[in-house]
Amino acid sequence: MAKEHFDLIVIGSGPAGYVAAIRAAQLGLKTAIIEKEKTLGGTCLNVGCIPSKALLYSSELYARLQHDGKEHGITCTKLTANFDQMMKRKRDVVKSLVDGVSGLMKKNKIAVFQGTGKFLGPTTIGIGKQELTANNILIATGSESISLTFLPFDEERVVSSTGALSLKKVPKRLVVIGAGVIGVELASVYGRLGSEVTIVEMLDHICPAMDSEVSKSLLKILTKQNMTFHLSSKVQEATVGKKEISLKLDASELKADVVLVSVGRRPYTSDLGLETIGLDTSPQGFIPIDGQFRTKIPHIYAVGDVVEGVMLAHKASEEGVAAVEIIAGHKPAVDYMTVPNVIYTHPEVAAVGLTEEEARNAGIEVMVGKYAFKGNGRARCSMETDGFVKIIGEKKRGLLIGMHIIGAQASELISEGMIAIQQRATVEDLAVVPQAHPTLSEVIKEAALNTLGRTIHA
Ligand code: FAD
Ligand code: NAI
Repeated sequence: MAKEHFDLIVIGSGPAGYVAAIRAAQLGLKTAIIEKEKTLGGTCLNVGCIPSKALLYSSELYARLQHDGKEHGITCTKLTANFDQMMKRKRDVVKSLVDGVSGLMKKNKIAVFQGTGKFLGPTTIGIGKQELTANNILIATGSESISLTFLPFDEERVVSSTGALSLKKVPKRLVVIGAGVIGVELASVYGRLGSEVTIVEMLDHICPAMDSEVSKSLLKILTKQNMTFHLSSKVQEATVGKKEISLKLDASELKADVVLVSVGRRPYTSDLGLETIGLDTSPQGFIPIDGQFRTKIPHIYAVGDVVEGVMLAHKASEEGVAAVEIIAGHKPAVDYMTVPNVIYTHPEVAAVGLTEEEARNAGIEVMVGKYAFKGNGRARCSMETDGFVKIIGEKKRGLLIGMHIIGAQASELISEGMIAIQQRATVEDLAVVPQAHPTLSEVIKEAALNTLGRTIHA
């Protein structure tokens, strides 16, 4: 059988792979994409960003009506959460988006192959009995959940995020191991729906990627939302009994109906046949690349979660686009300083640029300012007064080098910080932009003014 030949084969259809394939088609490359799952969109659309945010939204709506409704003058005789309907809506949202990706592939004339892609040689990929060849190959095979050796996933009672996003009922007692992003987001979902939530974290603080003041504030807020934290603790042993799961910590014991293990993710390269082409991974499993996303085999590129860096969908997409533009002879670059990091708890947490600790450790002389949402009119109108904006400026030239937000709509507000850092704006620039009144964005302006010692509303 003749092997079909392409300018570019993309392996993996997550936000790195499918976005790269579209950009490649726009640039005139004859492109194929291979996906081992039945639907396109990768972790993000199927079992990650999208289903988690759908459930976070539904559960937040329920919790806010329950807790704030009365104050707003809204009362219901019997407010209930229909978990099956929430799950159905989540599935519908996922389906609409993965169908959308299929439509985009058709529209851009990208050849889609379903099956596991495997290197048979440096320019040949096998998918079952079928073989394809290409001038360039882009590996975008993503990542998978890390499990604990003594507590393997059954995805019903001992679950990764994938199982947690498809539970059949709300567990009475949920224990979460790992207070990172997945841990606090999914704990929020089930806590709001009535689970008794306990979180075990080996470090003495939660969400370690975030600025330490923000992390402390989030811990306080989540504790007020009835989550119990065991910090500086590790689960040493586990017994999965018929009725319950027992977990032995260093100094105590916990019982659970469901345990979510969210201790991080690792790059996924199983079944890819990297050994056939002599491509080694790093000790952590990442595919090593140069500054242009090239592996040591120059026509084979890698992007997204499978390469080192933050494991975020938008970072993956930016790398996918850049790699393909490099293949087409352009000279793009990904500005990692402007890649935001968001946690979709309530309130949300969002960050861009350096934390205060990172800046100080890098020897930068910093100026720091803050402003709390409770001083903001709009936040009072919507009863969302928790949190603050923290600005990190570089003293010498006054440049904005970091913005950290814990508060309402932080995920949207952070874009002001991203653009400002990208445009090399100063803290003064942020302070003098007139913000619409009343808006939450005024908190950013006040935080910038605070950094310069000129807060108005304090
Ligand atoms: P993936 O999305 O993992 O896609 C890789 C694809 O490759 C998969 O579909 C896989 O089946 C396929 N594949 C693997 N090997 C082969 C093979 N040999 N042949 C064919 N196909 C193959 N990030 C955010 O930015 N915001 C969020 O809100 C967010 N929420 C998340 C929530 C959860 C619960 C999880 C788990 C992750 C979340 N993430 C979020 C992270 C985000 O999902 C990842 O960073 C992103 O999906 C990485 O994109 P990728 O394309 O590199 O890999
Ligand atoms: P994570 O790296 O964010 O957090 C893992 C946590 O588990 C850390 O706090 C770590 O100290 C702790 N831990 C590790 N081993 C432990 C042990 N044995 N016992 C107790 N605690 C332990 O990883 P997580 O939450 O699994 O998420 C993986 C990645 O997925 C994230 O890093 C992020 O890149 C991505 N993601 C992004 C989201 C977003 O952008 N909103 C949402 C969900 C996931």
